[in-house]
Amino acid sequence: SENITEAARRILRENDRGGYTVPTAGLYPYQWNWDSAIAALGFAEFDMNRAWQEIETLFAGQWETGMVPHILFHKPDAGYFPGPDVWQGVGPTQSTGITQPPVAATMARMVYDRDPAMGKARLSALFPKIRAWHSWFLKWRLDSENAVCVTHPWESGRDNAPEWDLVLKTMTAEGVGEYTRKDTSHVDASMRPTKFDYDRYIWLVQQGARLKWDQQALREQSPFRMADPTTTFLLLRAHRDLLAVGERLNLDVTGMAEEVALLEAGARSLWNTELGSFDARNAATGEFANCMSNASFLCWYGGIDEAGQLEKLRASLTKTRFPVASHPTDSDRYDSCRYWRGPTWAFMNMMIGFGLEDCGHADLAQEVRTKTAELIETYGFAEYFDSTSGAPAGGDTFTWTAAVWLAWAG
Ligand code: DGY
Repeated sequence: SENITEAARRILRENDRGGYTVPTAGLYPYQWNWDSAIAALGFAEFDMNRAWQEIETLFAGQWETGMVPHILFHKPDAGYFPGPDVWQGVGPTQSTGITQPPVAATMARMVYDRDPAMGKARLSALFPKIRAWHSWFLKWRLDSENAVCVTHPWESGRDNAPEWDLVLKTMTAEGVGEYTRKDTSHVDASMRPTKFDYDRYIWLVQQGARLKWDQQALREQSPFRMADPTTTFLLLRAHRDLLAVGERLNLDVTGMAEEVALLEAGARSLWNTELGSFDARNAATGEFANCMSNASFLCWYGGIDEAGQLEKLRASLTKTRFPVASHPTDSDRYDSCRYWRGPTWAFMNMMIGFGLEDCGHADLAQEVRTKTAELIETYGFAEYFDSTSGAPAGGDTFTWTAAVWLAWAG
């Protein structure tokens, strides 16, 4: 395991492009929002300054509205599509026009806790920026029950999760035009979203660019607006963490406790009684997607200890050797290697593990951790893993998998 730790550090160093990491060379050649926050946690194991820098670089791309983009295009790279010309982001750095699940506050708190004396000034400077991002979510992205919505499947981080089929299947993607995907030139097409999905991803990007990413206009015109368990649980946790560090650092936390309560009510509203699980919901109709996913198991990370979800987790742990599957292995839409339709993700497992631990389910946290460690030991630092065979999938030498080894699994 000494060697694996060495390798993990090397991956973070090799994916460093000067102040930020790429998730992996080739497939993802820019700075991604939640990948970077996870990377910071990995760096904190051996280079605290570099850990803070990762988050600071991300916030240097923050828009005036408070939104923090899902990708920052620091340097041009012809190997990725859609690039800055398609997105036409309007921030200080070339970027996309959507965000990603807000994990930065939680990771910043964890980095801070490792060395409070060193982190005090860094975190104090980041605090108002992170709060502005969270306020942007609160202003623009709550549905009628105060769960947090995404406006693009990419914004959820779980690009092709079956939850989104509900809305994507109603869209025609008319006029999307010709384009050349780059992802399938880096990894096998069987591991990636289908063309049906991609047409709709690109159509939504074109619509957003046309509307100059104006949130009011998007709220009125976009066909895609779904309350998302990942974003909802992560923002709830992140806001609680931000409130805690704000109090500790004597910063202005006015209104934050009320916002946490609002977000908690929103998160609880994602409970689908019929399914017996937390679920995504179409904001336009109130209809649930009727899908359990690995994001459903982020409830504990969000501080919600739900007995029914715990039962589902125990059951799912018996169904595959390589948990936690991103979609139930016994569902007819389960696909063991196609991105978010079945595979398992080490960083999701880590957040699930953190939550279980916090809520007093140490045995389950330990089981998820041990199995994640086994995956990485056996199959390396893949982007994600086939949840039936364990086989590595997607990109390799992946930043977040290396970070998870350093901070949690190893
Ligand atoms: C991609 O390009 O597939 C990414 O997941 C978008 O974030």
